[in-house]
Amino acid sequence: MEKTKKIWIDGQFVDWDQAKVHVLAHALNYGTGVFEGVRVYPTEEGPAIFRLKDHVKRLLEGTRVMAFDVPYSFDEVCQAIKDTVRINGEGVDYVKPCFFLGGEEVGLNPIGVQCKLAITCIKMGSYLGKGTQENGAKLITSSWKRPWNMAAPAGAKVNGIYVTSCLAKREAVMRGANEALMLNAQGNIAECSGENIFIYKRGKLYTPKVTDSILEGITRNSIMQIASDLGYDVLEREVSRVEAYTADEVFMTGTAAEITPVSMIDDRPVGTGKPGPVCRQLLDAFHEAVRGKDPRYHDWLDLVE
Ligand SMILES: Cc1ncc(COP(=O)(O)O)c(C=O)c1O
Repeated sequence: MEKTKKIWIDGQFVDWDQAKVHVLAHALNYGTGVFEGVRVYPTEEGPAIFRLKDHVKRLLEGTRVMAFDVPYSFDEVCQAIKDTVRINGEGVDYVKPCFFLGGEEVGLNPIGVQCKLAITCIKMGSYLGKGTQENGAKLITSSWKRPWNMAAPAGAKVNGIYVTSCLAKREAVMRGANEALMLNAQGNIAECSGENIFIYKRGKLYTPKVTDSILEGITRNSIMQIASDLGYDVLEREVSRVEAYTADEVFMTGTAAEITPVSMIDDRPVGTGKPGPVCRQLLDAFHEAVRGKDPRYHDWLDLVE
């Protein structure tokens, strides 16, 4: 991947190639980390970070779930993210802050292992591949299930949980699809490997509820807000696989994927097989919001300068 200039590690900017951890770091061996993905968008007033405070809030909530001893305040993390975006200059569009147990330790007990923070900026562009936002993405239902609330903290972005997402994503790519749909313990749709899911059916929008073993997505929340401002009914409830197969429209939401229509699930065309008007309208409204063109959503933007 393309290197950017500097990575922030525990208060210091280091060169990309110098951003290293020990092979015995607890997080490397046991997945004990919590991360975020945050987008940066160009606006007329300069680059802005989309829903920075909400991302940092979720990040710190994740560290509480993992009971990490975090040496930074909310404001310090927000400032460090802004500083990292600024120092890396033009073109970075995605930030990945990650708290991780960086202390050297063999053994599962995480108590007392040093917690570190690293913040990386990259130039991501389109996450699901060129043309997917315009033409729709292909999904398969993964044989790997979404880790559910009784087995893992599904509602937190814990590094180790993403092993299942990696396996599901691999399965999708090997089968010629863009993304993997993951079911929960009840056999209902939870979400995709890194995106939430919405269906549009009989004039209403539906998305799985927070207790269905999903990550409570910030883009999901933005789209629920934008859709209700546009007059749509949005309901959080169980969504079955059959409902997705027979929906008029299906789309994914996520920081990396933004809003991406789904054209095919398990070889079945969704609706007409082309992105539908509701998804298009929401995507356009979302693009206006993230670029600072809709005053109703200005609070969602934090200017970098
Ligand atoms: C498993 C999972 N679900 C959903 C999402 C979408 O969440 P957000 O919109 O906050 O990026 C993500 C991405 O962070 C994710 O990793």
